[in-house]
Amino acid sequence: MTSPVDSVMVSREGAIATLTLHRPERMNALDRATLRGLREAVDAIWGDRDVRAVIVTGAGDKAFCAGADLKERAGMSPDEVRRFLKHIRELMNEIEHLPKPVIAAVNGLALGGGTELALACDIRIAAEQALMGLTETTLAIIPGAGGTQRLPRLVGKGRAKELIFTGRRVAAPEALSLGLVERVVPADRLLEEARALATQIIEQTGPVAIAQAKFAINRGLEVDLETGLALEAKAYEVTIPTWDRQEALRAFSEKRKPEFRGE
Ligand code: COA
Repeated sequence: MTSPVDSVMVSREGAIATLTLHRPERMNALDRATLRGLREAVDAIWGDRDVRAVIVTGAGDKAFCAGADLKERAGMSPDEVRRFLKHIRELMNEIEHLPKPVIAAVNGLALGGGTELALACDIRIAAEQALMGLTETTLAIIPGAGGTQRLPRLVGKGRAKELIFTGRRVAAPEALSLGLVERVVPADRLLEEARALATQIIEQTGPVAIAQAKFAINRGLEVDLETGLALEAKAYEVTIPTWDRQEALRAFSEKRKPEFRGE
């Protein structure tokens, strides 16, 4: 796969696409070009049926992403800041609604937009030295890429308020106990662990089922239970006419592993 901009590396290993933020000299901070590159990469993955899982990580061993590029920000007019925020919000939404599992491999510091990027992913695995936090209030702004909404949905209202009001950084073990990440592993095993999880999903499940389960969970959490259950019923309905569902039943009776096509 080609890399749209130098600061976003896109690599493919079988059905896994890995997006690596590549600005280590800037702690992988998000500038306009990097945002554009990420959006183009996510868009390409959206339309690529051969990609079954995505890993998002940062280059180097220091930072996953230090949030918005504050040096670039210093030279922006208020209208340019508004435009940047529109783009970063759209990027996070595109990642959140990508109909494939997205795993954040948080390899180091993830501050502000870096933590918001991890929050937009489906599952977060952190290296032992990772430090996370929504630090925006210490810069006299608020999380603007979904943090005020996605953090309380993940960890609860009180914990989110405590973290956002103080802007404090949370080390990996605390992030795990808060439910801000799902797993913590030694740094040298981080990508291996993310790939193993992606491979488990790819090898064990049907792609249409994963896309529909993600849709039902994401959309269902935003509505009352009855509407959520109706969404689940509709999402299930999508799986009924699939070739993969028939294949799973055939494989079960023939005592073999199913071979899913995503159809
Ligand atoms: N935007 C632009 N450049 C950044 C950056 C950011 N968000 N975060 C780090 N950098 C740059 C630093 O300016 C420095 O470059 P320089 O030496 O050319 O000035 C380089 O990355 C290394 O950072 P440095 O601060 O020297 O490393 P550190 O280990 O002492 O501290 C951080 C790292 C990330 C804790 C610190 O840089 C920081 O607090 N950054 C701001 C993070 C933040 O608040 N993000 C939220 C934005 S909404």
